[in-house]
Amino acid sequence: MLRTHGIVPVLIVALALGLASGCSDDDSGQNNNVNVNDNTNVNDNTNTNTNTNTGPTYVGSATCETCHSAIHADFIESGHPYKLNKVENDQAPTYPHSTIPNPPNGYTWADVSYVIGGYFWKARWIDNDGYIVTGTDVQYNLVDQSWSAYHDTDPVGTKPYDCGKCHTTGWVATDENGPHQDDLPGIYGTFAQGGIHCEACHGPGSDHVAAPSTANIVKDTSSDLCGQCHTRDSQNRIEFKGGFVRHHEQYDEWLASPHNAANVGCNTCHDPHKGTVYFGAAGLNQECQDCHTSMTVNHNGTPGCIDCHMPNAAKSAKSVTMYDGDVRSHMFAIGTTDATWSSMTYEADGKTFLNGPLTLDYACYGCHKDENGEGGAYSIKTMIELSNRATGIHQ
Ligand code: HEC
Ligand code: HEC
Ligand code: HEC
Ligand code: HEC
Ligand code: HEC
Ligand code: HEC
Ligand code: HEC
Ligand code: HEC
Repeated sequence: MLRTHGIVPVLIVALALGLASGCSDDDSGQNNNVNVNDNTNVNDNTNTNTNTNTGPTYVGSATCETCHSAIHADFIESGHPYKLNKVENDQAPTYPHSTIPNPPNGYTWADVSYVIGGYFWKARWIDNDGYIVTGTDVQYNLVDQSWSAYHDTDPVGTKPYDCGKCHTTGWVATDENGPHQDDLPGIYGTFAQGGIHCEACHGPGSDHVAAPSTANIVKDTSSDLCGQCHTRDSQNRIEFKGGFVRHHEQYDEWLASPHNAANVGCNTCHDPHKGTVYFGAAGLNQECQDCHTSMTVNHNGTPGCIDCHMPNAAKSAKSVTMYDGDVRSHMFAIGTTDATWSSMTYEADGKTFLNGPLTLDYACYGCHKDENGEGGAYSIKTMIELSNRATGIHQ
């Protein structure tokens, strides 16, 4: 269902903010499961409006940096702080590892207030009234410098920015009645900082800054912390669209993976202050081989573990082939039989829910080709050939 400038229906859903997430993101006008989740935020707003909150307030990452400079130096190179970037002095925001072009046709830097993303996959723009710019060539895809459509059936000036729960620090959701960040009517909420800053994960830090102690700052090492944003479906099903797992579902995939049961969580593998998309294993605490110490790979040229076990089975901006999207899978286990391949097919409506494991088309066609020649750079292999070869590939 499309969201417009009109009234957002209010359902009181008494759920913790954390697990009740979802996304109003995506590349078509087809949204689902969205409103329930957004309405959870309305609850938060109600709480804030009671004005009884005398707890700590947000101070900003620059203040944390004064004492935790090494952590800040890692963090500022990662994607989190660049999720929502203010346009200042009519200049493009700057990024550590990417550059973005001028805004879409018809807009100059003076006509836009914020850029959404632009760090790795794609960028979208927010106009000076706070609405996300919609149209045919309004989303910039970094991988191939192309432009594509975003909500092109929604008239310009009707798509509110209500994505802040996952994109900002200290988001308080509102509706068309405000209050609005920077008094921009299209932003349905307020925030302390654009982007995922220190206090998005550690909570507001004014008390801690005044008298540093472990008792007055949050340190949450659970995967549920990351799962507040790296999820889509409120029931944590793995949602598909156009042949790919939809993006920001790492938590949902991980829940269905063997690592959940084994208590190997996001922070076991990831250093939460480091990025991986530009840094690979340097952003990790532990790699596959550190735990799976004696795996031999009986396959030509010994590809890396993640080539087969974490292929790009999900898509954010652009796919390379019908098997190769642009976001790595977190299901880890690979199924090798007919029964498991069919579990990754999707319904005629273009979406379905599944619980893994990864199927061989995604695991192998990043490198091999199917019988129609679709896939990677190497030899053609049918699914039957892959299945026969995959079983016991570590023996
Ligand atoms: C004035 C210096 C100072 C500033 C500013 C500061 N911290 Fe700290 N922080 C410390 C010290 C010192 C400790 C260790 C406290 C201890 O061990 O008792 C600490 C510990 C922590 C811990 C570990 C808590 C734990 O349970 O182990 C976290 C997380 C943290 N700080 C986050 C932050 C964040 C986020 C900010 C910004 C909002 C911040 N700090 C600002 C000095 C500071
Ligand atoms: C449930 C949390 C959540 C919501 C809601 C959400 N996003 Fe995101 N978004 C993410 C996460 C996490 C990523 C990065 C991981 C991924 O894509 O798998 C991301 C990535 C992006 C990117 C690419 C960033 C880059 O630097 O390449 C853009 C652009 C984006 N989202 C736009 C939106 C817009 C616009 C909305 C609202 C209409 C929205 N998102 C709502 C969590 C969310
Ligand atoms: C994406 C979430 C996230 C962000 C953003 C984040 N942190 Fe953390 N931080 C964590 C988690 C999770 C841990 C606990 C890691 C562990 O012990 O496994 C942690 C641990 C810490 C610690 C304790 C260090 C230690 O060795 O246990 C400090 C200090 C800290 N963070 C400061 C910061 C500061 C300062 C920033 C901003 C520059 C920041 N964090 C940004 C999630 C985050
Ligand atoms: C408040 C929402 C939020 C939370 C909490 C969060 N993330 Fe993210 N994460 C995002 C968004 C949004 C992006 C996309 C950022 C961009 O592209 O600018 C992202 C991107 C990433 C990336 C890819 C970017 C890079 O620099 O490599 C990794 C890896 C990541 N997150 C890991 C984690 C881990 C691990 C945790 C838990 C410790 C976590 N995130 C918690 C929202 C969140
Ligand atoms: C078993 C280890 C492991 C666990 C558990 C894990 N990750 Fe990852 N993650 C990785 C590896 C490895 C990469 C890819 C690093 C590279 O590109 O070399 C990665 C990449 C990512 C990326 C970037 C996606 C991309 O396209 O490159 C995000 C976002 C992310 N992880 C988030 C999470 C979140 C959130 C969790 C918990 C729900 C999680 N990860 C749990 C190992 C892990
Ligand atoms: C911190 C240790 C750790 C790391 C790092 C780790 N794993 Fe695991 N993994 C485990 C444990 C523990 C299990 C469950 C016990 C088992 O089956 O070995 C497991 C299970 C698995 C399984 C299912 C095994 C089965 O028998 O069905 C696969 C596949 C897997 N891991 C792949 C990976 C890949 C790929 C990576 C790197 C991206 C990775 N693991 C990183 C500890 C780890
Ligand atoms: C060429 C693709 C490929 C590569 C590379 C690969 N794997 Fe696998 N892996 C598979 C397939 C396929 C299976 C399922 C085999 C089966 O069910 O008989 C599997 C199964 C596993 C399992 C569970 C079953 C078992 O034998 O214990 C683990 C754990 C695992 N791999 C870890 C790793 C690690 C660690 C690496 C890197 C050293 C790696 N894999 C590299 C394809 C690959
Ligand atoms: C990182 C790239 C890569 C991935 C991923 C990959 N392969 Fe391969 N594979 C190759 C290359 C390179 C060759 C040798 C040249 C060729 O066949 O084109 C090869 C050869 C083969 C062969 C013929 C030679 C032999 O050893 O039997 C089979 C069968 C095969 N791969 C199966 C698989 C299966 C099954 C998977 C997924 C589980 C897989 N491959 C994933 C790169 C890859």
